[in-house]
Amino acid sequence: MSGTDALASLRGQYLPAIDASLATLGEIRARSGGRMPARLAEAVTYSLTVGGKRLRPILCLASAERFGVSPEKAMPMAAAIEFIHTASLIHDDLPCMDDDDMRRGKPTNHRMFGECMAVLAGDSLMIWAFGYALSGLARNGIQAGRALEAAAYLSEASGPFGMCGGQVLDTDPHAFESGENFVYKIAERKTADMLRASAAVGAILGGAAEAEIRSVEEYGSHLGLAFQIVDDILDATGTPEELGKTPHKDEKQGKTTFVSVFGLKAARRLAEEESAMAARAAASLWGERDELAVLARELALRSA
Ligand code: IPE
Ligand code: IPE
Ligand code: MG
Ligand code: MG
Ligand code: MG
Repeated sequence: MSGTDALASLRGQYLPAIDASLATLGEIRARSGGRMPARLAEAVTYSLTVGGKRLRPILCLASAERFGVSPEKAMPMAAAIEFIHTASLIHDDLPCMDDDDMRRGKPTNHRMFGECMAVLAGDSLMIWAFGYALSGLARNGIQAGRALEAAAYLSEASGPFGMCGGQVLDTDPHAFESGENFVYKIAERKTADMLRASAAVGAILGGAAEAEIRSVEEYGSHLGLAFQIVDDILDATGTPEELGKTPHKDEKQGKTTFVSVFGLKAARRLAEEESAMAARAAASLWGERDELAVLARELALRSA
């Protein structure tokens, strides 16, 4: 399989089902007897269905499948991960955070629905994610112990110890630390923790052994770091058309990024190193021709 094929191939396998699952939210609202306010439903559905690479749910489903759980059965967890990720992007774009007008090639949620609705749409997705995952997994016959363990893992990776904490390090001047380590700390929490969790919960749902889960975590962490390093590189080098979001924001906002700390050339090398480490971890589990290993190697080269 050639370098840029893995994500396309994984998307071919999993995207139709992921998108179909996310598109059923309108029906869920209808079944709730209109308890969800119509404009909240519109705001949530807008951001969830407007596009996005769906990397995190793909990782969850691909990992689950490698540990014997079908995509159909694991889907509620994969969708919940995309809820949380999408919520994090809605909040990330708010004027009080990165203040962005464009996301996934469309106006940001607060530009469409106003700041108040964007805050509440994000809150709704983050909180609902856990009930949505647990009730769906129960319906699909996943053992309750495994489902609970996976949900707790996701909460740990997305809340104050993970993504939310990382967003604080990224935005709060009081959190700033000097030294090269700080940018790693930010990226690990704000981005890599969610990618690690996406892969790890798939393994947990499949009842993977402790040692296997550790290798999956290693894969997800390095993949996540490579992903954020490239995100920083693309912010400095990409166009709005390629990215679907506004480039050159990091420098304008004085962010601590891999490009600001190491420069473009060294950042590219660091992304390749992280990708290679992720690929090694995947190869140790499933062989080096496995699509998840290839995905890791190609992520350092992505341009969108
Ligand atoms: C953007 O994530 C935010 C980061 C953690 C870098 P993605 O690049 O995965 O965004 P979508 O989901 O494809 O829009
Ligand atoms: C965002 O990082 C990470 C999140 C938790 C959403 P960035 O602020 O770099 O993401 P983009 O570049 O706006 O997508
Ligand atoms: Mg940000
Ligand atoms: Mg941002
Ligand atoms: Mg960025």
